[in-house]
Amino acid sequence: ERVDVSGLYLIPGAIDVHVHFREPGYTHKEDWETGSAAAAMGGVTTIFEMPNTDPPTRSIVELRGKLACARKSYVDFGIYGLLAEDNLDEIPGLIDGGVAAFKCFMGNTFGDLPSPSTGAMLEGFQIIARSGLRISLHAETASIMARRQAQLEEAGLCAPTDHIASRPDVVAVEAVGRAAALAQWAGARIHILHISSAAELVPLMQARARGVDVTGETCPHYLLLDRSDYARVGSVIRVNPPVRERRDAAALWDALDAGMIDMIATDHAPHTPEEKRQSNIWRADCGFPGVETQMPLMLTEVAKGRMTLERYVAISSAVPARKFGLWPAKGRIAVGADADIAVIDPTRRETIEARRLHSRGKITPFEGRQTVGAPVHTLVRGAFVQRDRQLVAERRGHGLSVSRIQRMPDPMPRNDDQAIDTIIAMAQREAESVPVALT
Ligand code: NCD
Ligand code: ZN
Ligand code: ZN
Repeated sequence: ERVDVSGLYLIPGAIDVHVHFREPGYTHKEDWETGSAAAAMGGVTTIFEMPNTDPPTRSIVELRGKLACARKSYVDFGIYGLLAEDNLDEIPGLIDGGVAAFKCFMGNTFGDLPSPSTGAMLEGFQIIARSGLRISLHAETASIMARRQAQLEEAGLCAPTDHIASRPDVVAVEAVGRAAALAQWAGARIHILHISSAAELVPLMQARARGVDVTGETCPHYLLLDRSDYARVGSVIRVNPPVRERRDAAALWDALDAGMIDMIATDHAPHTPEEKRQSNIWRADCGFPGVETQMPLMLTEVAKGRMTLERYVAISSAVPARKFGLWPAKGRIAVGADADIAVIDPTRRETIEARRLHSRGKITPFEGRQTVGAPVHTLVRGAFVQRDRQLVAERRGHGLSVSRIQRMPDPMPRNDDQAIDTIIAMAQREAESVPVALT
């Protein structure tokens, strides 16, 4: 197969460590065929798929079921195993079965998986630490979230922006700090999902300074949208965590430039237009598709001079590869070594339109946005899965599990003394803190 790539760039395909493909259980929102087609169209060659399906990926049994669904995938994939209160005994089986990472929901979100207690988290971290696999955290504290939402509902508030008011970034600050202390005690590697606020960068950097192997991602919507978009987009913008203030978005850009935030992921979270369009924002499901629009949106920022193409490649592919153990063994060549490639046209102009997305969730807060730069071909292990902006339908099922190449570094050393000091300091602050007043 030959194509003329003169005037185009070859970059490593994006590695998106945060997508929800909804199968099994919610296939009216998405399935592995539609979700992975969206990835292929978006220049994404590897995805890590989240466990909040029905049933959730909580043991080897559900993992086998999910791997069966993933046989339809156009792109390579890692499967997340769940870390919850009641599945600690299942974790070794998930590791042996080939999960690529673990996911722990500290806050309630779609799928209503209850957040584990701090004790269960600590035990789970210890078990997973021995494997070297990374644990990704939805770092919001369920109890704080619930209390604030109850206050708002009692006050009869349901305007779109009340969704932000109910989700102060203290939920993330507390959760990041607590998770990092537990990781330090257990010697676990962790990853902070969907960083949305300036505030949560503080416990992240403190943990890193203490030697915790903690990585962080943000998503295009936290960089490119903010509170002012609620008026225009309405309930479609509802997402956990919410997009915040303009100053938060500015801080996230700075943190990305400075390497405090390691990578970009999408939190691709499709729902149907009916589920998203609600007059009461609390009734709208949280999240929206993102895996197909990430590359055009971010290449547009490259075209504007907001970041270099080299930096984009780092945050979209090279860094996630290294931090999630997809970096090939020493002595072999770097990312793209097995020819996972996005061929991009840096000048191609497109308009984002929900009805043209390959996801089943045909709704996006980026509707109508003009983009400059798009992946015109996508290759997974040397085979076209997208060619000339068209899906290559014969490649359905071409995707393979990354556990065949994944190699995490050795377990981390534990750092008990410092971790104990941190945990005690956190407990003291918690004892002194007063409930946050409703603003
Ligand atoms: C995600 C979903 O719908 O699965 N929703 C969201 O708002 N981000 C869950 C999650 O990542 O919290
Ligand atoms: Zn989440
Ligand atoms: Zn998510």
